[in-house]
Amino acid sequence: MKDLSVIILAAGMGTRMKSSTAKVLHPLLGRPMVLHVIENVMELRPGKVVAVLGHQADRVREILPEGVVPALQKELLGTAHAAMAGLGKLGRSEATLLLVSGDAPLISGETLKGLVTAHKKARAGMTVLTADMDEPFGYGRVIRSKGGQVDSIVEEKDATPAERAIKEINTGTYCFDVDTLRKALGEVSADNKQKEFYLTDAASIINSRGGKVIAIKADNADEALGINSRLELARAEKTLRYRLNRALMESGVTMIDPEATYIEAGAVIGRDTVVHPGNHISGATVIGKGVTLYPGNIISDSTVKDGAVVKGYSVLNQACVDEGGQVGPFAHLRPGSRVGPAARVGNFVELKKTILGEGAKASHLSYLGDAVIGRDVNIGAGTITCNYDGYGKFPTVIEDGVFVGSDTQLVAPVRIGKDSIIAAGTTVTRDVPAGSLAISRSPQSNREGWAKEWRKRKNK
Ligand code: UD1
Ligand code: CA
Repeated sequence: MKDLSVIILAAGMGTRMKSSTAKVLHPLLGRPMVLHVIENVMELRPGKVVAVLGHQADRVREILPEGVVPALQKELLGTAHAAMAGLGKLGRSEATLLLVSGDAPLISGETLKGLVTAHKKARAGMTVLTADMDEPFGYGRVIRSKGGQVDSIVEEKDATPAERAIKEINTGTYCFDVDTLRKALGEVSADNKQKEFYLTDAASIINSRGGKVIAIKADNADEALGINSRLELARAEKTLRYRLNRALMESGVTMIDPEATYIEAGAVIGRDTVVHPGNHISGATVIGKGVTLYPGNIISDSTVKDGAVVKGYSVLNQACVDEGGQVGPFAHLRPGSRVGPAARVGNFVELKKTILGEGAKASHLSYLGDAVIGRDVNIGAGTITCNYDGYGKFPTVIEDGVFVGSDTQLVAPVRIGKDSIIAAGTTVTRDVPAGSLAISRSPQSNREGWAKEWRKRKNK
């Protein structure tokens, strides 16, 4: 729709959020609310998109996608005043305007298309997107004339009890003939309870000038939710989560409990992958096919390849698990970690900038940092790479086939040659040649009967 212009109202403070962050910046599925609105309007491929900014304008401007034109509303005097600021960025030739609210991210591109199409077909001056709400409290009410057209819109605070009983609300989404709106805005006054310039007054003004004001009702009232409070934010999040999870399930992902599965927009998940409750998946994460994610993992900006298993309560950040790899429970893969094909990382194992080769295992209680670990290496319980001296980080290299006994410390920089064996309890401070045994232990002495005598003395 190249002939369509869009204005997004995003200047308000969002007083009812009780936040030091502007309302439209509050995240939904990990992305600022206003970006969801922009994504929805972009589905119509409009010729021009203007965002009206005011409160924290610089912060909002920073996240606007390329091509969205910012317009500054210097004083926040109400939605009509904001619309006027937006119109300033439109040219004379632009005829049809879609005007949306930056705090209504659930209104889909499809619904917006329906609104614009109906507006054009009816050759109306103003077309209002409305919805029937069981609990219309807080919204503007739509007063219809006998013929079914819109007579006026009355804000909650200015409404009579009879008007408040009306269930049809204004979603704050409209289509306008640009010239008609320009003329109407010139007549809006702030003569109301909130002393604001209401955009909703355009309805009665256009009517009084003989223009045509109609309404289109959204099929799905859930879309109409305007976010003014934290409670509404949580409600919107739930709706978006449901939509995203439904799409993933439709594409072949099993979710044991979709309501308790937290996946942010942008993550990719393959077929026949099973996601248990309490998984949080965010950022540019790619999960392959046939993966099992047991409960409670936090996975961000990571890759988990086909057939891998993450056994629960594990944290993966900028990490990769190759095909058939196993991780957890209670594992921590920090940035730059890679668990090779069919390799295993068990409970209470932390990896940082460490590559674990194919088939290698670190099954229990280890810290492996700045290490390159070869194929089929066994890392015994309690192994620690001592990679940091308070100033610099140093690498550890463990070549293929090495067996590292339990409770080993590897003081980096150090290299363990192929197929070597490190005896349990060893502190490795020098490189180990291939095929060797490395052992560093103080000799053990046993004093027979000593313990018994000692206890006897103590218990006297
Ligand atoms: C508005 C409508 C109401 C409708 C509801 C739908 C008016 C007067 N009322 O009420 O009929 O039912 O939306 O959700 O329009 N904004 C600015 N500059 C301003 C004031 C607001 O840009 O000076 C922006 C806000 O950032 C917000 C949008 O306009 O994105 C709506 O403002 P808000 O204060 O939330 O209006 P509501 O009271 O919800
Ligand atoms: Ca609102």
